[in-house]
Amino acid sequence: MLEIAGLCAGYGAVQVLFGLSLAVGGGEAVALIGRNGAGKSTTLKSAMGLTDITAGEIRFEGENITGCPPHAAARAGLGWVPEDRRVFARLTVWENLDVGRRAPRPGAPAWDEDRVLAVFPHLKTLLKRDAGLLSGGEQQMLTVARTLMGQPRMLLLDEPSEGIAPKAVEDLAAALAEIKATGVGILLSEQNRGFAAALADRAVLLDRGRVIGEGRLADLIAEGAQLAACLGV
Ligand SMILES: Nc1ncnc2c1ncn2[C@@H]1O[C@H](COP(=O)(O)OP(=O)(O)O)[C@@H](O)[C@H]1O
Ligand SMILES: [Mg+2]
Repeated sequence: MLEIAGLCAGYGAVQVLFGLSLAVGGGEAVALIGRNGAGKSTTLKSAMGLTDITAGEIRFEGENITGCPPHAAARAGLGWVPEDRRVFARLTVWENLDVGRRAPRPGAPAWDEDRVLAVFPHLKTLLKRDAGLLSGGEQQMLTVARTLMGQPRMLLLDEPSEGIAPKAVEDLAAALAEIKATGVGILLSEQNRGFAAALADRAVLLDRGRVIGEGRLADLIAEGAQLAACLGV
């Protein structure tokens, strides 16, 4: 579904990614693992057209989207959830969902509020509340829920479990597993090893903008040292 090949990208004169390649299939979840500054967020932002790409190619469902602006990447089917959850604080939860609404894709079951709220039942109890009053975990769920209303075929999640309470992390992991089971692909940057292990079919280890390992997270953990170094533990 998403194929990144030989990607060199960064910000102006600062190169961050050096020939990075990875692929994510439909209904598959892949975790980007690596210490702070390894280039995880930059990888996700590159797919959304938010970095300067100097070499390589990004394809989505066979379409070359290298360097496409964010709205074009979204139209192709990428739903990006940045690390600083962006809810509209002064709109209600329902209004936030409504803002994210896009027309369904032909041939794909639509994500409407009923389907989205079935995945995030807790949000159903909060529909009239201003989003700014929600907890961090609730805001993260709302951000993912709003992104689903845009009919993505793949989610790009930047540190989804960061800074949210353990119960919310559990709920979020369960919701993402359900979303994955519908065929939506997931590429996530994740520091929380338990969360990544619960959700991801594969992990890609990044170090200083390069892929240094790839495989099942369980195998990589068994290999041990390299992963520990990447996670900074
Ligand atoms: N907007 C930016 N401008 C310049 N450099 C940036 C910018 N954003 C990130 N960087 C740099 O890119 C490198 C990788 O950052 P990032 O992709 O955010 O890493 P990670 O998400 O793995 O922690 C870091 O050295 C960081 O300082
Ligand atoms: Mg990051």
